[in-house]
Amino acid sequence: MFPAELKIRNLSIRPATLLAPMAGVTDTIFRRVIRGLGGCGLIMTEFTSAEGVTRSAAKTLRYLYYDEDEHPIAAQLFGANPEVMATAAALVEDLGFDQVDINLGCPAKKVVKCGGSGLLKDLQQLGRIFDAVRAAVKIPLTIKMRSGWDEANIVAVEVARMAEQSGVEGIAVHPRTRMQGYSGQADWTVIARVKQAVKIPVIGNGDIRAPEDAERMLAETGCDAVMIGRTAATNPWIFRQMEQYFATGHYDQPSEADRYRLLSGYFRSLIAAELPDAIGKMKQFSCWFTHGVRNGGELRHEVHSARSPAEVLDRVDAFFAGAAEARGACGACTGPGLRSLYGLASLAKKRAEHFRG
Ligand SMILES: Cc1cc2nc3c(=O)[nH]c(=O)nc-3n(C[C@H](O)[C@H](O)[C@H](O)COP(=O)(O)O)c2cc1C
Repeated sequence: MFPAELKIRNLSIRPATLLAPMAGVTDTIFRRVIRGLGGCGLIMTEFTSAEGVTRSAAKTLRYLYYDEDEHPIAAQLFGANPEVMATAAALVEDLGFDQVDINLGCPAKKVVKCGGSGLLKDLQQLGRIFDAVRAAVKIPLTIKMRSGWDEANIVAVEVARMAEQSGVEGIAVHPRTRMQGYSGQADWTVIARVKQAVKIPVIGNGDIRAPEDAERMLAETGCDAVMIGRTAATNPWIFRQMEQYFATGHYDQPSEADRYRLLSGYFRSLIAAELPDAIGKMKQFSCWFTHGVRNGGELRHEVHSARSPAEVLDRVDAFFAGAAEARGACGACTGPGLRSLYGLASLAKKRAEHFRG
């Protein structure tokens, strides 16, 4: 039975599913796409530098922007200086976040020198950070960690116990080492060991690609909730699918029309937000999302060779319009599905013409 709720002290997370923080991906626009599709209990910001926040660097503060309809929402911070982390956490609380999370997972060279998974090699410093941040905020405090620095130094259980003693109230575990990066398989037995070692909630993360994987993770580890990262970018419907699967035993796949609406809607939101890096985000998101689209390689190529955000949108529209027409012509699609795809094709065509100008 999948847990309907995860409680981090008095914060109710329903259902017990979380969107993993992903730098460059889980900005406010993407998070709202996930919220809109439903089934996700808690969303989180991308990791945010505590040093940047305390210097009030405009670029860093942008990572902490969220809309009211994103609640419940956690902010994730990274850093290695206890006082700076405490000040940043207090700011996060003032900004109205429901929870603050400490990043102990980032493997990037630039980050491990000043936090992230680098802290898994210095547990004394980590203890000081836990104590300082705990003293600075009243909102629930969680951590998200890898299993350790390398195979010879798996410290997840030790860190979990330490965190619990310091007043941390929930632990997400991505059971790969820093040296593994994203290679190999997540070792879910580490999640099970952490769950056995502490009383606070444990959130399992790593390699959930379908609702059946979430069910298996829960059964194999006893974790209290699941967190999903990369699959949310290839299949943003995953949370809704899990909700449906756990209620009925089956789940729907998005139609081609759903995929078109999501991609063009997301891209139009990026353009409307006037983000300086909108085209980069579009190209990055396309790399993930188009894997679920028929002839996705072609669409990826179209997006990658575009020179402006408007041109990207134009090409997305033309791609789906062409796909819908091809299917209509070969008679592979019948009934209401065909009508809705034809509707989609003409809508996409109109939009393409509009952008061509
Ligand atoms: C592009 C990308 C960016 C990420 N950024 C963060 C981050 O900012 N903070 C963090 O704790 N983990 C980050 N992660 C790790 C994910 O949150 C997650 O732990 C990892 O991808 C494993 O989960 P998954 O198999 O469901 O993707 C990132 C992962 C990816 C692929």
